[in-house]
Amino acid sequence: MDTTAPIGVFDSGLGGISVVRQLRKDLPGERVLYFGDSANAPYGTKTPEQVRKLSFAIVDRFVRQGVKAVVIACNTATSASVNELRATYDIPIIGMEPALKVACDRGHGHRQRVIVAATPLTLREHKFAALMDRFKADHTIYREPCPQLVEIVESGRLDDHDLVMRTLHGYFDCYDLAAIDSVVLGCTHFVFYRGYFRELLPETAAIIDGNAGTVHHLKEVLAERRMLAPATAAGSVKLMNSSPDPRLMDLSRELLMRRQ
Ligand code: SIN
Repeated sequence: MDTTAPIGVFDSGLGGISVVRQLRKDLPGERVLYFGDSANAPYGTKTPEQVRKLSFAIVDRFVRQGVKAVVIACNTATSASVNELRATYDIPIIGMEPALKVACDRGHGHRQRVIVAATPLTLREHKFAALMDRFKADHTIYREPCPQLVEIVESGRLDDHDLVMRTLHGYFDCYDLAAIDSVVLGCTHFVFYRGYFRELLPETAAIIDGNAGTVHHLKEVLAERRMLAPATAAGSVKLMNSSPDPRLMDLSRELLMRRQ
C-alpha cells in the first residue's frame, strides 16, 4: 500500500470536520478526503439499517478512490456499522465512541456524575449499552439525546448565540449542573459547541470529546502497519459533500478554519 495514499474520513454531515481539524494538527503530512453526507443528515434519527447502507456506500466510494484507511468521524455511523465495515474491507476502519472512559477515569476511583450528550441512535445502540455496562456500577451516567444540535450545525446557525443557548438550556436545565463532573460530547457535531457548553456549565465540569483519542488510535494503527505518510510529505484536505447545495461547501471550509 502506498503510504502517501489518502485517508477517507466521513460523517453524516459537517461534524466530522472537527475530527479532520484534529487530524491536521496531529498528522499534518496525511492527505485527507472528507465526505460529509449532508444530503442524508441527520443519521441520528434513522434506523441502524439505513445508516449502515449509507456508510457502506461511502466506504465503497473511498475504496474506489484508493484510500489507505477510513475514519468514521461519526458516533452514530460507528454504532450502526463499524463491525460490518471491518468484516468487509481489509483496510483499517477507525470508529468513534463517546469518551465515557476518559470522563470516569477523571475521578481516580471516586464516583463521577457524567452526562453523555449524543444522538438518539448512538444512545440506543448496543455499542453504547456495552460501554455503559463497563462503568455504570461505579458512576452515575445520564444519557441526553440532543438531535437539534446536529441540525443547527447543518443549517449554518452555529453562530446564533441565542438559539444555541436556548437549545442547550432546553436539554440541560433538568440537571443539577453544579453536581455534574463532566459532559461527554458523544457526537462530532457537538465539538463545535465547546465554547457554548463552557458558558452553560460551572467551571468545575469538564467537557470531553473523543477526537484526539480517535486520531491517536489512527496514528497507532498506521504506524503498526508502516502506513504513516513520510515525515516530509505535504498533507492536504479535500472536502466533498453529498448535497448539491453550494452553501454546504462554504460552511465546510468555514468549519475547517474555525478557531474552536
Ligand atoms: C447525526 O447525523 O445525527 C449526527 C451523527 C453523529 O455524529 O453521531
